[in-house]
Amino acid sequence: MKGFTFISAAVLAVATVPFSQAAPNYHGHGGNQWDNVRSKIKNVVVVMLEIDNLRNIQYCNYENATITSSTKYCANPKANNIVKQDPDHGIPGVSYQIYSTFHPTNSSKGNMGGFVDRQARIYGNGDPQAALDAYSPEHLPVFNQLAQEFALFDRYFASVPGPTNPNRAYHTSGTSAGVGSNDNTFSDFTNLVPGYNRTSIFELLSKHGKTWKNYYEGYYVDGLFYNWVQTKAPEQLVPASQFYLDAAEGKLPQFSYYNPECCILTSGHPPTPLTNTETLVKSMYEAIRNGPQWEETLLLINFDEHGGFADHVVPPPAPNPDGLTYTATAPDGKNFTFGFDRLGVRVPMIAISPWIERSLVVSEGTKPEAGSAFEHSSVLSFLENLFEMPHLTKRTAWAETFEGIIGTKLRNDAPKKLVRPVSAWGPTHIVGNLNV
Ligand SMILES: *[C@@H]1O[C@H](CO)[C@@H](O)[C@H](O)[C@H]1NC(C)=O
Ligand SMILES: *[C@@H]1O[C@H](CO)[C@@H](O)[C@H](O)[C@H]1NC(C)=O
Ligand SMILES: *[C@@H]1O[C@H](CO)[C@@H](O)[C@H](O)[C@H]1NC(C)=O
Ligand SMILES: *[C@@H]1O[C@H](CO)[C@@H](O)[C@H](O)[C@H]1NC(C)=O
Repeated sequence: MKGFTFISAAVLAVATVPFSQAAPNYHGHGGNQWDNVRSKIKNVVVVMLEIDNLRNIQYCNYENATITSSTKYCANPKANNIVKQDPDHGIPGVSYQIYSTFHPTNSSKGNMGGFVDRQARIYGNGDPQAALDAYSPEHLPVFNQLAQEFALFDRYFASVPGPTNPNRAYHTSGTSAGVGSNDNTFSDFTNLVPGYNRTSIFELLSKHGKTWKNYYEGYYVDGLFYNWVQTKAPEQLVPASQFYLDAAEGKLPQFSYYNPECCILTSGHPPTPLTNTETLVKSMYEAIRNGPQWEETLLLINFDEHGGFADHVVPPPAPNPDGLTYTATAPDGKNFTFGFDRLGVRVPMIAISPWIERSLVVSEGTKPEAGSAFEHSSVLSFLENLFEMPHLTKRTAWAETFEGIIGTKLRNDAPKKLVRPVSAWGPTHIVGNLNV
């Protein structure tokens, strides 16, 4: 899915408050903050949705990124429930979106000007505006409500300026080991291959006596990427219906990783109806909220990458975790090598727990190094710290961490039911876009 202007109104008003003020608990705890977190949070649930983006409504791009006299397009809060044309989000294409060239060098400065240009080049007779358009709060009332009730991260980046699987690999192992595309080395139920031999979060948790399950709706199951999971723990890959039983019975494991179906029913990937994605998130929230583990569970809503939809914040540099690089042929026919030394485009993260104060906007956390930033490895770093396990890679050791969002006061005002999706979207709008 895309568009996050639905955070406007109430939540954006909070966004001007520095994190240190917005979360008064954060600085007081010092070295004891992890003890506080460990006393409150026993289980972490991650739902990994597809493509999304934080969007600035004032933001514009030119049809030709390098020609300011070409047609100018500006974002509007009028994106469709179903987006018909999937924007470019391969590594060369994302380089172009960020730098207006397929071949950025170390000294290139990003201008985030190439989104409309890429969309126009790929879909000649299409709708370049679709790469910029955003949603209003009324379009996505469930996400809007969750962002207002809990914590919204507004400076969190994808790990890789590229597609789904490399980002999911970073989210589950702190590297993609030099893989930059959704190639056949990623195992799934329609492409069963032996799987990578590096250590994943699933193996790390098992080796430390922690419980986990990877719930799945369709044939993409990120745990299947790993040879160890395939051969040593296949029974911990379980159908999604079990998530709701486990939540109701208080049997959610210490780590739950939830794979939605991709790419037409729930994940948010075009052409998923976003009302479906909201229905999934509402169902998961309500299952946890009304189950016995609510008070000790942290629910994280992640989006694997920006999906080619525009943003205005230039992604920062990051350390390469293992020295491996990826070479691809760009649309101009020339090769480009990516060093996994900068992050992908911003994606939101919503963190949900009764220990998080209302309407928290998180722009900054704890930086292990001066340049640390929030990205998918931050979630791994949270798990590594929470369960006192070693870092999987240099990247997870580097990633900015968010333990400060867990306070000391238990909220009892968190909604038991969320609003319903779709109501404000209007039947004409939806029917008009079912023709994909
Ligand atoms: C944008 O304009 C430049 C300069 O005229 C031209 O070289 C380039 O081919 C144009 N880009 C596209 C994608 O048409
Ligand atoms: C670019 O920066 C990376 C480190 O981020 C370095 O390894 C590489 O040698 C640099 N390339 C050039 C051409 O300076
Ligand atoms: C991982 O190791 C297994 C067993 O040695 C092997 O069959 C498999 O091909 C390896 N996977 C990769 C991706 O190299
Ligand atoms: C360009 O990259 C492709 C992989 O995308 C590779 O097969 C090919 O050898 C590379 N060509 C050159 C000249 O490096």
